[in-house]
Amino acid sequence: MKGLGFLALLPLVAARGLRPRSTACNNSPDLCSKNYGEITHLGAHDSPFVRDASTDYSTAGDQYYGTTDQLSAGVRLLTAQIHKKDSAWHLCHSSCELMDAGTLTSWLTDIKKWMDSNANEVVTILLVNSDGASASDIDSAYQSSGLNKYTYTPASSGSWPTLQSMIDDGKRLVTFVTALDGSTSSDTSYLLDEWNYVWENPYEVTSASNFSCTPDRPSSVSGDLSAALQSSKLPLMNHFLYQTTILDIEYPNSSYVSTTNAPSGGTGNLGDTANKCKEQYGGRQPTFILVDFFNEGPAIDTVDSLNNVTNAVGRKEISAGSTSDGSTYGNVFKGLVEMVNKAKSGSNPSMADWVWVGGDWGSLLGGGIALN
Ligand SMILES: *[C@@H]1O[C@H](CO)[C@@H](O)[C@H](O)[C@H]1NC(C)=O
Ligand SMILES: *[C@@H]1O[C@H](CO)[C@@H](O)[C@H](O)[C@H]1NC(C)=O
Ligand SMILES: *[C@@H]1O[C@H](CO)[C@@H](O)[C@H](O)[C@H]1NC(C)=O
Repeated sequence: MKGLGFLALLPLVAARGLRPRSTACNNSPDLCSKNYGEITHLGAHDSPFVRDASTDYSTAGDQYYGTTDQLSAGVRLLTAQIHKKDSAWHLCHSSCELMDAGTLTSWLTDIKKWMDSNANEVVTILLVNSDGASASDIDSAYQSSGLNKYTYTPASSGSWPTLQSMIDDGKRLVTFVTALDGSTSSDTSYLLDEWNYVWENPYEVTSASNFSCTPDRPSSVSGDLSAALQSSKLPLMNHFLYQTTILDIEYPNSSYVSTTNAPSGGTGNLGDTANKCKEQYGGRQPTFILVDFFNEGPAIDTVDSLNNVTNAVGRKEISAGSTSDGSTYGNVFKGLVEMVNKAKSGSNPSMADWVWVGGDWGSLLGGGIALN
């Protein structure tokens, strides 16, 4: 009897193991039937540029947690800049001397692994093509990483599919590129020129009272909200605050970010700004909201509220305010600032200073600083 009882239990245990984990799409069962463009996706601005111990809390980082943590916590749009370094494509912030987060291929490989183990999630990548990579250069990195398996190519016309249908088809990665050369072939047609599909509000905001919902890019809809809304393009709401330092170099205002990303309260908070934009857009919610330091606020609260999601599942908790910010200036950046201060006060920086801040600042500074 004992033996039989034990055997009888087996099918039950097996059935439980096989039961699908949940039917949520992008962390909610309510989103499966929604189309890709009608929901709001939380975006991590400069996703691979992290301010943590691994970068000595570099001021050039504008996330406290890396890409796969972002995804696990609910971020579904990842932006990055690609630059050419030693004939390879790297993810660098403004310049590879300032911050180099490794190769495009290795970043895409991390995303591929995450998508392999999170089969019900639809992810978007937006690449800022700083050094003119060709569509086939970018495609090579997608092929090497294996991520090309998941790439979605829109039909030539028509609306976006539901999350569920993208998931069912296994084509659940959307890639926008700013900008592409004209060489897109049928093999690379999943690389979507951003401005054919997306419009954005202004992104260079240095005062918390200056966030604006007005279309800024592409130029075809700049300043013209009705043109933007009538186009089939998706609204991307930039919502991050810069502060400026000498030479007008801009870097993220991290001291105010818990307000900038908050669901309510305080000048320029994300929740009120998103609601204001939605109202100005005739009730249309932004498809993407792009923030720095995504875990602060937390920014996901505003996205959930726009999506009417009250029962998010399968997210990793990452608390706000849990990472030390270091001091006002990070390592390399601090060196740069000190060197520029010296140059400004009339004394030429020494070669040692130059080397110490990491090398060739010529392009970043526009050239012209003489060396001793
Ligand atoms: C805020 O916006 C106004 C109007 O566009 C502009 O004149 C002002 O310079 C902006 N302020 C800052 C700090 O960016
Ligand atoms: C960060 O933004 C807040 C709110 O606009 C402002 O009070 C503060 O001075 C900014 N910090 C810097 C260093 O600019
Ligand atoms: C959330 O609810 C509002 C108000 O009913 C509606 O306008 C909006 O389309 C909904 N958004 C989603 C993604 O369900």
